[in-house]
Amino acid sequence: MKMSDKLAAAFSEQVTMELSASLAYLQMSAWFDSFDLPGMSSWMRIQSEEERGHALRFMDFVLDRGNMVVIGELRKPKSEFESPRAVFEAALAQEQSTTSSIRNLYLGASEEKDVESYPLLDWFLTEQVE
Ligand SMILES: [Fe+2]
Repeated sequence: MKMSDKLAAAFSEQVTMELSASLAYLQMSAWFDSFDLPGMSSWMRIQSEEERGHALRFMDFVLDRGNMVVIGELRKPKSEFESPRAVFEAALAQEQSTTSSIRNLYLGASEEKDVESYPLLDWFLTEQVE
């Protein structure tokens, strides 16, 4: 069953946000690599892939429901950091904003009684706790 256009737009925003997070982590991976920190670099690259996976998961869900996904403008990743610690702080801030956005998506879905969205959003909320 199709979801409302409003809810589909909110999901599209989430897709965009996950893709921006993926780019942010990819850039962080490059930063670590340039400071000869291959372990952290490859860890960030894995995070980047994970975020891309999240974007695809949201995207496929919307498409499976019969709605359209419109990818918005991606945020230019931050590329300069003072220290490895600053990179991880930026990554944490990124995760916190993703969590609040998924919570809002949940509230939007429950406002519209879109129960079909709940299992997916539950999965993401649990994932974000990590
Ligand atoms: Fe994510």
